[in-house]
Amino acid sequence: MLVARTEFKELATMSMFVRIREDINSVLERDPAARSRLEVLLCYPGLWAVWIHRVSNKLWRARLRLLARLLSQVGRFFTGVDIHPGALIGRRLFIDHATGVVIGETAIVGSDVTMYQGVTLGGTGKGHGKRHPTLCDGVFVGNNANLLGNITIGENSRVGAGSVVLADVPPNSTVVGVPAHIVYRNGERVLITDPHDVKDPLSDALIALSGRVEELEKQLGGAAKAAEPFSTEEAERTAYHEELERLRQYVSMGEGI
Ligand SMILES: CC(C)(COP(=O)(O)OP(=O)(O)OC[C@H]1O[C@@H](n2cnc3c(N)ncnc32)[C@H](O)[C@@H]1OP(=O)(O)O)[C@@H](O)C(=O)NCCC(=O)NCCS
Repeated sequence: MLVARTEFKELATMSMFVRIREDINSVLERDPAARSRLEVLLCYPGLWAVWIHRVSNKLWRARLRLLARLLSQVGRFFTGVDIHPGALIGRRLFIDHATGVVIGETAIVGSDVTMYQGVTLGGTGKGHGKRHPTLCDGVFVGNNANLLGNITIGENSRVGAGSVVLADVPPNSTVVGVPAHIVYRNGERVLITDPHDVKDPLSDALIALSGRVEELEKQLGGAAKAAEPFSTEEAERTAYHEELERLRQYVSMGEGI
């Protein structure tokens, strides 16, 4: 993982043009809409923002703090991406569509990270010191996701569009929702059946309700036969996804609408 400060120092010695070339190549690999190197160079403000950040970060580390902040504001004006000059950013960060992205001062972003418009790597407003997220290598963040506080998103994990992530995410996982919860881990679907795993007011109500049901079942003794929890929902979900898959195959055979 590329978050150690020594590795960032090594990056500083890499030729500027080598890094620009690998940035452009990585966009060509990741964005099916990108057609040529020239197009990527001229039409991807997310890349310009990263390049401007590299200069402002150098100024920041040279203790030219005001100049660094001024330059990052010029970058924000032209690209819509607000990266604090103190943030540590690894290789080949791709910010697609750029506008509205905010990356805080103590954020750390590893290599080969992809993020879309509207993403915030912010603080919770409560802490000092390291107060912004750390994104490990290969992380993907969907549009308008908010990642808040000193949390770590593990390698190759994905954050769904519009999610609010407030806790660490393990590697190779997908999280979605507000607040975010895991839906995939190591390629396996994770079905949340315990409301304790989703910390919102609705799950608090569910926890209270299931406690009450349990109590009533106890009072009824053996008369109430406990069904497997969520078995009906799981069966319905499986049937729905099978039906979708059948429809997808039907359409791809050219026989659909
Ligand atoms: C998170 C994401 C990567 C997951 O993709 P995936 O692995 O194909 O996941 P699935 O589509 O199988 O979804 C798994 C479950 O999570 C839910 N889900 C997926 N994305 C979600 C999201 N952003 N918010 C809330 N729930 C979401 C699905 O409804 C599904 O739930 P279900 O099984 O109960 O119906 C994808 O949905 C996403 O958000 N991508 C971001 C794309 C983006 O930002 N595009 C911007 C282009 S400009």
